[in-house]
Amino acid sequence: MTGYQGPERVLSGIQPSGGMHIGNYLGAIRKFVDLQHEYECYFCVVDMHAITVWQDPKKLREQTFHIAASYLAAGVDPKVAAIFHQSGVRAHAELAWIFNCVARLGWLERMTQFKDKAGKDKQRASVGLYTYPVLQAADILVYQATHVPVGEDQKQHLELSRDIAAKFNHDFNQPDFFPLPEPLIKGPGARIMSLRDGTAKMSKSDASANGCVFLTDDADAIAKKIKKAKSDPDPLPSEPAGLEGRPEAANLVGIFSAFSGRSDEEVLKEFGGQGFGVFKPALADLVVEKVGPISAELNRLENDPGYLQGILTDGAERASAVADPVVKRVKEIVGFLI
Ligand code: AMP
Ligand code: TRP
Repeated sequence: MTGYQGPERVLSGIQPSGGMHIGNYLGAIRKFVDLQHEYECYFCVVDMHAITVWQDPKKLREQTFHIAASYLAAGVDPKVAAIFHQSGVRAHAELAWIFNCVARLGWLERMTQFKDKAGKDKQRASVGLYTYPVLQAADILVYQATHVPVGEDQKQHLELSRDIAAKFNHDFNQPDFFPLPEPLIKGPGARIMSLRDGTAKMSKSDASANGCVFLTDDADAIAKKIKKAKSDPDPLPSEPAGLEGRPEAANLVGIFSAFSGRSDEEVLKEFGGQGFGVFKPALADLVVEKVGPISAELNRLENDPGYLQGILTDGAERASAVADPVVKRVKEIVGFLI
């Protein structure tokens, strides 16, 4: 329970562990752009999460700029929302340690992302990968954030953040201190699947680059990937119920809906009865039209690391100004000397 009465804030983060793809865009960044005018927003590049698996240091720096540039290219305004690198705001790590002592082992053992990422040999996974969701809770709660825009795969981590907030409030008898952050997941695009396998999430670490449309892909690459996308021999159904048991078809229709702002029903009203020979070129045109301008801006920004560094440093300062007093108060509550 919480009686949190403070300001409503939004926080989200993306790992600099690979190229940004249309799943990240539709599931997360696009929502950031809409939310920035409604709430006080904090969008970070979660470099500390990225190193829970090995990252080449030079690439990590480049990818940190890449994620920041993607936020900007998609339309996040750095004067409105704070854009920063997680490691640039010390308060995240400080709160994460305290949360490591609030969260229970049993809670972490249930986390499916750890199981997926650790693979068969759990003993060789980093300790950081295990406590990853605890750091995520700290990212959110260090701003006392009330809303967290993410894709569907983050649902379980958000539940854990709520459990940590509630246990902290309860254990220290501070029922008003942390809000229980709400995930903002709904909407088309919350779960975009690989173009090569309609049952696997589109992911930065997709084994086949053809399964993933990156925001940096040019028109040719996008058209090729969509043309090659796995589909099935049947024509599209005229209603969404007909997509059941056809994961690849459902995914392609879902991408169309998400980019066009239309519902699956409407899209199928137009394309029902048509084969993929007609639908794929229409989808490719739409994705090229929507991703093209982002891609151009992203390329321009990536060539200006000095500018990006300035945005991140400024964002980290603004974020610290909110996070530091929260950590100070947490330390007092826990009984640390200030
Ligand atoms: P990650 O790439 O894992 O750091 O994810 C960054 C954000 O993008 C998170 O909010 C994810 O939930 C979201 N996301 C990642 N992959 C997808 C996907 N295939 N479909 C929708 N959202 C996604
Ligand atoms: N775990 C998230 C992902 O893989 C990234 C993340 C880290 C995050 N900290 C966060 C998302 C805080 C939202 C809020 O996608």
